[in-house]
Amino acid sequence: METSLSIDDPVKSFVRNNPQCAKVFEELNIDFCCGGDASLLTACEEENLEPREVYQRLVELQSAPSASDQDVSGLTPTELTEHLESTHHVYLKQALPRLTMLMDKVHQAHSSRHPELTRLQTVVESLRADLEPHLLKEEQILFPLIRQLEAESPGSRLEPAQGPIRVMRSEHDGAGELLKEMRTLTNSYAVPEDGCQSFQLLYDGLKELEEDTHLHIHKENNMLFPHH
Ligand SMILES: [Fe+2]
Ligand SMILES: [Fe+2]
Repeated sequence: METSLSIDDPVKSFVRNNPQCAKVFEELNIDFCCGGDASLLTACEEENLEPREVYQRLVELQSAPSASDQDVSGLTPTELTEHLESTHHVYLKQALPRLTMLMDKVHQAHSSRHPELTRLQTVVESLRADLEPHLLKEEQILFPLIRQLEAESPGSRLEPAQGPIRVMRSEHDGAGELLKEMRTLTNSYAVPEDGCQSFQLLYDGLKELEEDTHLHIHKENNMLFPHH
């Protein structure tokens, strides 16, 4: 933990310090939003959790490496497919369900005063509905094909992958359009004055989704696909 937060500090300070902590609190049913003033110790006692263990998990989050830190320029196509699956795909499979749930919560609480949340909810759902099957198509069809072609004939441009690549590129364009609309609807992820902590978490999460997906698509369109 970058600051000197202890188990006597309020739950909300942990989330403010590192939004990733929210995922742990959600999982453990610790209320960091409206009950965020309670100390970590008190909140854990209320849920019959071992405070030291929870604190340790929060500390470990701080040192988890992020996909965006890795230099992938020297990877072979096979290594690149493995990198994509173990970072960006893992991230999306975890982030998309979490963000759609958080989106529903914020929509329910705030859509009367923020009608733009209704369209945002549709956009987030569409992203999930498009990206989840997209990941599977890459993992089950395109990436194994790329690995097979590279094993048979390293370094050559091979026709058989062109069809699936065309489909993936067009799906990337669709996701890119939805991300663009998401940015417009959220006013570049600016939380309104009256937004609560869930609102902030949602916008932080959507911003992270945008950044990660842009990088993900870049690696596929501009680094992986040109090899084929
Ligand atoms: Fe991908
Ligand atoms: Fe993709």
